[in-house]
Amino acid sequence: MNIQLESSVSACVRTPLAKHSDLTWHMHATQDVNYNVSIAKDILNPRNPVLARTCANYVVGKNRKTKRLVVIDSKVNEIYGDSLRDYFESWCFDIHWKIISSDEVNKNMESAIQVAEAMDDAGLLRRGEMVIGIGGGVLLDVVGFASSLYRRGIPYVRIPTTLMGQIDAGIGIKTGVNHGDHKNRLGTYFAPSSALIDPMFLKSLDQRHISNGVAEIIKMALIKDRTLFELLEAMSSYLTPQAFSSDHPVIQEIMSRAIAGMLAELEPNLWEAELARCVDYGHTFSPSLELRATPMLLHGEAVAVDMALCVALANGRELLTDEETSRALLLMHNSGLPIIHPVFNLELLEKALADSVKHRDGLQRLPITTGLGAATFVNDLTLDELSTALQFLEQRQEAFDQVTTL
Ligand SMILES: NC(=O)c1ccc[n+]([C@@H]2O[C@H](COP(=O)([O-])OP(=O)(O)OC[C@H]3O[C@@H](n4cnc5c(N)ncnc54)[C@H](O)[C@@H]3O)[C@@H](O)[C@H]2O)c1
Ligand SMILES: [Zn+2]
Repeated sequence: MNIQLESSVSACVRTPLAKHSDLTWHMHATQDVNYNVSIAKDILNPRNPVLARTCANYVVGKNRKTKRLVVIDSKVNEIYGDSLRDYFESWCFDIHWKIISSDEVNKNMESAIQVAEAMDDAGLLRRGEMVIGIGGGVLLDVVGFASSLYRRGIPYVRIPTTLMGQIDAGIGIKTGVNHGDHKNRLGTYFAPSSALIDPMFLKSLDQRHISNGVAEIIKMALIKDRTLFELLEAMSSYLTPQAFSSDHPVIQEIMSRAIAGMLAELEPNLWEAELARCVDYGHTFSPSLELRATPMLLHGEAVAVDMALCVALANGRELLTDEETSRALLLMHNSGLPIIHPVFNLELLEKALADSVKHRDGLQRLPITTGLGAATFVNDLTLDELSTALQFLEQRQEAFDQVTTL
């Protein structure tokens, strides 16, 4: 007790005195962000220590079970709940469970508060006992958001179980919930302690949600990785839940390239001080489409329609050759993704662009491909170009439809 007191007193004495004659004091501090994103196979096998190690970064006291709060998506709980319970039991964890239904409609402040209440009920220590989020992008966004708010931040681990989560939503530091008419309008930047990716989870996803994640992989390929584009082309008929959860070496390379590419883009601009971001490719017009489309489009599907438009725009500016343009659109089509949508018309595009200009501080900063696997930004896009691009895509869709009906 004495020793503690002495050390806290001496720490205070060592702090330099502020100049009391000043009227302005300058504060400066930097925040270190340090976390691992790891791919690990078979993490629910009780003989595999990876999950236990990841969740035991903060061990409190000896001879005491390690307390954790697991927040899990209800569908994931149905499929993997028993295995998770067996696993944590065998590694002597004291787990408190919070099961939430995490569809896009439940991605709101109420869900975040429910998670915060579960943290309270579990009686988690402020730094020593972490939260483990297991589910898709929606669950991870909500859990990350609640973790950043609860006691102004408690440690949490991300275990993404969808393809979208494993290559995008579950590996960065953005958290958030929808509010009003806007997606992710309330949110924070809050890094996890780590993110653990086990492709095994993908075997129970449906094909539509695989295609949804593939859209974001195509994005990475188009803006920065031509090899990834070619691998996707070669595998386009095999991008299935079975393939993504298998040991297929090409699928493994696709996954690691997608993750590494995303992290490389995020790391130098984690807090998005720079608003011209290549990773916003396909995300200029898609937020408005996502809001308006009925029946609802998945995020990746809306991104695909936006990317197709940007491919057509690049073709119009001769930044993509006709051959490259056809290959990009065919890859989206073969991956089960749309390239047009009935509400994606000129009126919507004009409004969506105006919204994005506000979001990007007054400039279009539109990422656009220059060849397959490279990108630049434009600020002078016109409505005429958008109109021509839309017509181009309608014709291309007709050509796809003709092939299908043959
Ligand atoms: N924070 C970020 O940087 C970031 C990036 C991209 C997307 N997002 C967000 O991610 C969300 C989309 O994420 P998503 O596509 O993962 O959707 P999702 O979280 O809604 O999951 C899709 C569906 O799959 C189910 N599911 C999850 N894992 C499963 C599994 N292994 N087997 C069977 N079913 C499973 C879920 O219950 C849900 O019904 C959006 O809200 C988007 O805004 C966030
Ligand atoms: Zn996205």
